[in-house]
Order: sequence, then structure tokens, then C-alpha cells
Amino acid sequence: MSRTVYVNGQYLPEEDANVSIFDRGFLFADAVYEVTSVLDGKLIAYDGHVERLWRSLKELDMAAPCTPDELLEIHRELVSRNGIDEGLVYLQVSRGSDGDRDFVFPGAETKPTLVLFTQNKPGLADNPAAKKGAKIISVDDIRWGRRDIKTVQLLYPSMAKMMAKAAGCDDAWLIEDGHVTEGTSNNAYIVKGGKIITRPLSNDILHGITREAVLRFAAEAQMEVEERLFTIDEAKEADEAFTTSASAFVMPVVEIDGVALGDGAPGSVAPRLREIYIDEMRKSAI
Ligand code: PDD
Repeated sequence: MSRTVYVNGQYLPEEDANVSIFDRGFLFADAVYEVTSVLDGKLIAYDGHVERLWRSLKELDMAAPCTPDELLEIHRELVSRNGIDEGLVYLQVSRGSDGDRDFVFPGAETKPTLVLFTQNKPGLADNPAAKKGAKIISVDDIRWGRRDIKTVQLLYPSMAKMMAKAAGCDDAWLIEDGHVTEGTSNNAYIVKGGKIITRPLSNDILHGITREAVLRFAAEAQMEVEERLFTIDEAKEADEAFTTSASAFVMPVVEIDGVALGDGAPGSVAPRLREIYIDEMRKSAI
């Protein structure tokens, strides 16, 4: 069945939705995005995603396409029209189209393009993959230097994911100067001696909305958290590892570059954090 999607003020069947071939998102990857998950038909951690979107827009000197209240209304309308109980809302804002191709940013008369669509994902919370855990490979991080801005420049993460698939694995962790930056589309953590270790926030990684919540819940549950760089070699010797993202919540990692962590099954920390995260998010969903 065709989805209803949103493009620049209109709700349309997906086959009728269009964006200009001159759109700067298409020509220059001059666009930012957010992915917000839906549980029980409600939006998870919505405020964090909107705040980060406004930050991304500001960092790129891009105009906001509407107000935060209007954006919430569009999210809710799409979730309702598409009958999403568990799934995702994808949002993209580009710098719009000035009807030609020019490296120079267009003036204020060019309005941003706003696109949103839903992805139905039944079983998002009760995901069998989380019980098995993910196998990952490590690859060089050759992305640009402003990974804190959530741009749609996702070619390299997509290639890294393909390298993982080719190696019979689920995902890749990105390595810079021997240290893990993050996953292709998630933040990365290891657990050693009960302590959760993750890279501190900087321009090198995306400031994950799930990361922020999970670290808060970990601290509230008296778990020890250390924000510092860690190497891929250290990760291979960890007791456990996991990733966090809006689309997969807390996902245990059971193997890195062919090396099994612990007994090769999810440990105790990641599954517990996953459970707490999902419970708390259900409570605060809007
Ligand atoms: N990705 N790091 C990167 C590079 C990401 O692309 C993402 C999210 C995260 C986790 O951020 P958050 O917890 O706010 O989802 C970290 C989304 C889910 C995606 O591209 O589909």
C-alpha cells in the first residue's frame, strides 16, 4: 500500500511526491536529516531530535523550513495517516533549489525543501537481532571533519555497511588513528570490568540522542561510565560491546573483526540498558 508522505506543505501519496532535480540536497548533499522512532504510535525522544535538527541547520547557515510546533504536527499527522505503531519517521531539510547548479549558496529567496516519510517496522522493540547480537568489522573512518552535523552525506557509511555485508557481518565501526569513532549509523561503546566506555562528544562523532538518554539511564542505574577514546584493539579485549541509535536502540555487539567478545553472546550490560531504554522511552513518548 502506498504511503502518505510530506513534501513542502503537502501530504501526498508517495508516487506523487516530487523534488526538483536542481535541489541542493540532490546535487551537493546540502541537506540535514533526523530519524525519530515510534513506539505504541508515539514519538520517542522527539525534543532531542528537533533540538539537534535546529543545531545542524544553524551550523550550516540553513533556514528552518517551519517552526518546531509545525514539525511536531507533521510527524504526528504522518504517523496517524500511515497507521504506524512501531517504526521510524525520516525527516530531511535541504537548502532547496535555485533552479540551477551553483557552488555558491543561494539567497534567502530560495526556500528550504522539507520532506518527511514514515517507515513501518513492526517488531522494532522486540527485535530478534538484539537477542543474537551484531557482528562487526572495523574500517578506516574517511568521512569529513564535521560528523557532529547530521548531513545526508552517507555514501561512505553506506559503503562501510556493504563491506560488512561482504564479510558476512552486520555493521562496521569506523577507526581513526587506531581509535573507534562510531558505527556507520550508531554510537559505539565497550564494557570492561563493568565500566561502560564511549568516545566523548566532539566534531568527530554524531551527538546521538539515544546516547544521551542511555548514558543518563546508566548513571541512574549506578553503572560506571567513562567518556574517553578507546582503540579497536581494546574493543576486541572488552567483556561486551554495543551500539546505540534511534533505529536500533541498544544493540549488543558480539564479534569484532572475527574476535568473539566474552562467550560470543550478548553480555548483561547491553541487554539491561536496552530494556531500561525501551521502558523509559515508552513512558515519555509523545
Ligand atoms: N543514524 N552516529 C551516526 C553516524 C549516526 O548516523 C547515528 C544515527 C547515530 C546515533 O544517533 P541517534 O541516537 O540520535 O539516532 C550515531 C540514524 C539512525 C540513521 O542514519 O538512520
